[in-house]
Amino acid sequence: MGASLPALFRRPAILWSALAVALAAAVVTVLLVVPGADEGPADGDGDYLDASLPIDERVADLLGRMTIEEKVGQMTQVAVPAIEAAPADVREYGIGSLLNGGSEALHDTPEAWAAMIDGYQREALDSRLGIPLMYGIDAVHGNTAIPGAVVFPHNIGLGAAHDPDLAGRAAAVTAAETRAAGIHWTFAPCVCVARDSRWGRTYESYGEDPGLAFEYAGPVVQGYQGGDLTANTSVLATAKHYVGDGGTAYSSSTTGDYLIDQGVTTLTEDELRAIHLAPFRAAVDAGVGSVMASFSSTDLGEGPLKVHADEYLITDVLKGELGFDGFVVSDWQAVDQISDDYAEAVRASINAGVDMVMVPFEYQRFISTLLSEVESGGVSEDRIDDAVSRILTQKFALGLFEQPNGDTSGAAAVGSDEHRAVAREAAAASQTLLRNDGDLLPLTGQERLYVAGSGADSIGRQTGGWTASWQGSLDTPTEGTTILAGIQEVAPNAEVTFSEDASAPLDGADVGIVVVAEDPYAEGIGDAGAGEHDMTVSEADAAAIATVCGAVDCVVIVVSGRPIEIEAHLGDSGAAAGVDALVAAWLPGSEGAGVADPLFGATPYDGRLPVSWPRLIADEPLNVGDPDYDPLFAYGFGLQTP
Ligand code: GLC
Repeated sequence: MGASLPALFRRPAILWSALAVALAAAVVTVLLVVPGADEGPADGDGDYLDASLPIDERVADLLGRMTIEEKVGQMTQVAVPAIEAAPADVREYGIGSLLNGGSEALHDTPEAWAAMIDGYQREALDSRLGIPLMYGIDAVHGNTAIPGAVVFPHNIGLGAAHDPDLAGRAAAVTAAETRAAGIHWTFAPCVCVARDSRWGRTYESYGEDPGLAFEYAGPVVQGYQGGDLTANTSVLATAKHYVGDGGTAYSSSTTGDYLIDQGVTTLTEDELRAIHLAPFRAAVDAGVGSVMASFSSTDLGEGPLKVHADEYLITDVLKGELGFDGFVVSDWQAVDQISDDYAEAVRASINAGVDMVMVPFEYQRFISTLLSEVESGGVSEDRIDDAVSRILTQKFALGLFEQPNGDTSGAAAVGSDEHRAVAREAAAASQTLLRNDGDLLPLTGQERLYVAGSGADSIGRQTGGWTASWQGSLDTPTEGTTILAGIQEVAPNAEVTFSEDASAPLDGADVGIVVVAEDPYAEGIGDAGAGEHDMTVSEADAAAIATVCGAVDCVVIVVSGRPIEIEAHLGDSGAAAGVDALVAAWLPGSEGAGVADPLFGATPYDGRLPVSWPRLIADEPLNVGDPDYDPLFAYGFGLQTP
């Protein structure tokens, strides 16, 4: 037996207690002596807080100080409603990011938004290492979570404008109106390539041609991120949804009642690369800071695999071959779709290369599950360190360690005339003239006009989904100018009668303007045939066309996120009772006057179809180059006016 112990210590309980005290003292000594290991910024020291150091050195220093719990916390993104009752959990769990889904309008002003975010930021800064959080939002065509913000045409209209630089300017305005609210990160641009217009997200794409998305990705990413991510006019951009979200087959979706959204994209790898990967290459080359994985699956010949679990596509191709050095964020609760076994789902997604998980509700479960996977070796610490390094790199680039609180000095510019002018220019440039019998357009502005249709006086319809709420709404709080008000503004001398259902007397009218429209929708809710969105003209709008165009010369304007089935309502070109002029207005945003500008010749019509316009919806998928290609209006078609 070793040297005899004093009698007091021969009682095991006392002996162990004494040993415990001695051990604790030893650990404390180690911590105080060994720099870096669990050492906090006690006196504000710590290389990672030294803004004069290169970001990679700051990341390495901070990473070396972090516990595994703190690292996993940084990989966790939580929706505000899931944590608002326990804000201290941001500190407790070291949550890396918060978001609100679907650009939900939680607050009315930039200042109120910044105040909310700053509240959570204080919790993050109170954590041991004081790592600030990032706040993300779907500012995909303006920061529409603020009713007074400018709302731009959705991407399909920007694609029709065939002007990437204009799209970049639109992104820059959106970035300024987003960062002015204290928000650091937008989940945009969608560089998806919509190959079947029945997809409810067609309007989020620039069109069916990968070349369009390729041309737009760079200028738009640079528009959002600017030259300096620390600027109060820049936000981190997100290229989404990686990869192949726009190529899913109809009826291949297994998500709820969806038919095509989140389905399976069945292609050869070469086809996937040519059609859907190319825009991401442009976004990565433009320095995009984040990429969002797609809900969809790809089947390259060996059966469908969820992209969120695809190590080849995410790690080998995106991070390896394309050299993407930002971070990959999951989509909303998308990890859960990988497997009914949550641990397996978490393990598969993180090992595939997902760096941050948009949980977004049960964050404790996610954190404990991933910690268990690290503990068991299911996920390596190297993978965790890689993910956290990528996230921290963007946080340093955003300047969040130096300026963690919202800078609302740009709030006065939110919704400004200058910003609205850019949106009006974009709306006008996106207008696509598909028929113009007798050169009816442009109008002179001296006519007696009769305006009808569901899209004429509806901010909700002209802004569409992702506007103040996920699905958009007919009673949206969004401020703006309707198409009717735009007509009255651009043609003040015209005598305008408005009758949405065309029930008012028509006599005396020189020209009829019938604005037909889709009701707003987003994602798979908008999949044609999945519910109330079927890409056809509503009965009321069809009746308005028949009434008005049967009596006077008329122009039909289509407000929609994609082509709709319209041929049966047009009558033959040149026919007396037919539709004389037809305009695709897409989803023009808050500035309805942009739709009126080319109508009265204030600007030319010069839009070109970014997607093929089918005769019948059943003809989809319909893309230029298809065999027996027989659209009503071909991809790239558009009439011009002076
Ligand atoms: C959604 C969308 C994605 C969006 C995210 C956050 O489900 O797929 O585009 O950015 O959730 O709202």
